[in-house]
Amino acid sequence: MSQDTLKRAAAQAALDYCLAKIGDDAVIGIGTGSTVNHFIDLLAPHRGRIAATVASSEASTARLRALQIPVWDLNSVAEVTVYVDGADEINPALEMIKGGGGALTREKIVAAVAREFVCIADAAKRVDHLGRFPLPVEVIPMARSHVGRQLRALGANPEWRQGVVTDNGNYIIDAHDFYPIAPARVLEERLNNIAGVVANGLFALRPADVLLLARPGGVETIRAR
Ligand code: 5RP
Repeated sequence: MSQDTLKRAAAQAALDYCLAKIGDDAVIGIGTGSTVNHFIDLLAPHRGRIAATVASSEASTARLRALQIPVWDLNSVAEVTVYVDGADEINPALEMIKGGGGALTREKIVAAVAREFVCIADAAKRVDHLGRFPLPVEVIPMARSHVGRQLRALGANPEWRQGVVTDNGNYIIDAHDFYPIAPARVLEERLNNIAGVVANGLFALRPADVLLLARPGGVETIRAR
């Protein structure tokens, strides 16, 4: 079974999960990435059953609009009913590394407004300890070298994701060699305190509430331990 088949299975499970518990006033938060793209495609025939979506990237917004799924500005929403997003790594506490697609800052903002965060992932994303996946850090362009030095001082090996500009007009530095990251909340806060860092890809202060993990044998519903 291919990884993409597993991603689609996780997305289908998320759609079933959402439709079973939301009303027609629901606002669904939409993450970013290939797993979420399956979710958007599967949501399209059911768009009449929700009020709208809010999106975590220009790419997701464009895909939603192309399928005539309404997208609202997050500022017009007091609460997101459920946020559906993928992850690059997720641990047993449902803390994650995200931002492989560079959308970490908007993803973190939508997650902060969400009543419930549902992570959808294929089995390859499930890890015991975070940090083998390089940790994305979004930085203000003029702070790139400064943040790189600070990351090196913390023991990481920073790599500028050259040619990539985020939806917010910033750069991404991928911090290698932080493995194993524990406790993740401490590192998340520490990185947030570096001048010039907009956001980092650790989602530990606001982890997922539910993980829908697709394995060849089926999709498992996992809650945080
Ligand atoms: C984008 C993300 C994605 O959720 C993460 O990279 C997983 O992507 P995919 O579903 O394509 O494997 O954080 O910024």
